[in-house]
Amino acid sequence: MPTLSPRLVLAQLGRLVRTHAFRLASLYFGVFAASVLGVLLFVYWMSADFVERQTQATLDAEIAGLAEQYAQRGLSGLVQIVAARSAGDRGDGMLYLVTNSDGHPLAGNITGWPAGTPVAPGAIAFNFAAKVKGETQMRPAQGALILVPDGYRLLIARDISDAALFRERIKLTLLWSGLVALVLGLIGGAVMGRNLLRRVEQVNRTAERVMRGNLSDRVPRKARGTSDEFDQLAANLNNMLDQIERLMGGMREVSDNIAHDLRTPLARLRARLELSLIDAPEVGAATDAIRAAIDEADRLLATFNALLNIAEAESGARRNEAEPLDLAQTARAAAELYEPVAEEKGCALTLDVEPGIMIRGDRHLLSQAVANLLDNALKYGGGGVTLSAHQHDGRAALEVSDSGPGIPEDEREAVFDRFVRLEPSRSTPGNGLGLSLVRAVAQLHDGTVALGDNGPGLKVRLEFAALG
Ligand SMILES: Nc1ncnc2c1ncn2[C@@H]1O[C@H](COP(=O)(O)OP(=O)(O)OP(=O)(O)O)[C@@H](O)[C@H]1O
Ligand SMILES: [Mg+2]
Repeated sequence: MPTLSPRLVLAQLGRLVRTHAFRLASLYFGVFAASVLGVLLFVYWMSADFVERQTQATLDAEIAGLAEQYAQRGLSGLVQIVAARSAGDRGDGMLYLVTNSDGHPLAGNITGWPAGTPVAPGAIAFNFAAKVKGETQMRPAQGALILVPDGYRLLIARDISDAALFRERIKLTLLWSGLVALVLGLIGGAVMGRNLLRRVEQVNRTAERVMRGNLSDRVPRKARGTSDEFDQLAANLNNMLDQIERLMGGMREVSDNIAHDLRTPLARLRARLELSLIDAPEVGAATDAIRAAIDEADRLLATFNALLNIAEAESGARRNEAEPLDLAQTARAAAELYEPVAEEKGCALTLDVEPGIMIRGDRHLLSQAVANLLDNALKYGGGGVTLSAHQHDGRAALEVSDSGPGIPEDEREAVFDRFVRLEPSRSTPGNGLGLSLVRAVAQLHDGTVALGDNGPGLKVRLEFAALG
């Protein structure tokens, strides 16, 4: 299991926060949360206001009724009707109290003038003692105080404990639904962001693979072609890649065709020059010129052969030639072949191979690739050159390293292209085709080739899947 260090998690988080998808998802969540909060506040306000209005309407109706009674029947009538309405529990929470000027109750269902409540006409809020199942409970009430002539007081109020309870319930319900909605919004935002990120990531990955040289890679599209913006982007990118691949294929074909078509007349020209040398063996300026022309023809033929070799490896036409072979043996044979060249240059060629590294491959092309690497190491590197072959974790690796100037990191990709030669090596003979063949051979074998630092010098590593 990978270990999660806090710094790694922070770095990942930082990367996530900087993505457009994250910002979009956050915006979505923000708008969603604000609207949910707005709706909930509105619902709360509406229901609280409704309860308040209802209480007020009941009180107003009751006050109007009692005022009418008082106008018709005077104080005694008022006391009578209050006593009648207070008798028994009607269950509507209405509270009545008529007192004399001292606050002494004459009638009503509240035991006495609520303590600490000022005697001022108008709206009034107080707590009163209510008997519930034999127990005395303090409950909130809200109502109005009316001063009747001669110092009498009439208190009409309503028990609002149920309304308060109702309001509490609404608050709790809204709070919970708000929380659930926010969690859903968060999940929705995260899913949306992830989907978006995943699709951008797919495009990025494909672009990276194409840039690494796999030009036939394409951006995956949704199976049921939704034709959304991402699908269109993928389709456009894929069309563009198709076009580029076609153009590059065309260009390569032209250069391969030229190499192919010119090889035969060139070989014929060379043969004629040889013949003219045999026919006129006297030494002179003409024979020297003919010899130089033959050398030139040889070089041209070598270039054409190298180009055709690369084309052949890249086309995969020789895939059927693959057979089980020992990479150690191939390395040893190549080293033997280059031993005289190394000696001539005064270079030490060291061989470090593990015996019996079996891979499936094309003997001829692999030998050529290794020969090209040794040729480069002796030509540009010099000093000590090492050729090693090892097997590790099911991978067979072949390495050629020298102690020359090496290749700067920013040019390590370009040297694999055809005809690319770096500035310092322009004076040495060569076509810039050696590494192109090495890469084509590695790809033909589903292997990899990587250029690295040998500190100082160049280290080229070829890797293939080992057999068994
Ligand atoms: N071992 C090395 N050390 C330094 N530079 C190198 C080395 N190998 C290759 N290069 C650079 O990479 C370039 C490309 O190498 P490549 O083998 O493709 O072509 P070449 O050697 O120039 O010609 P060819 O191999 O076709 O005769 C070389 O011209 C050289 O500049
Ligand atoms: Mg070379």
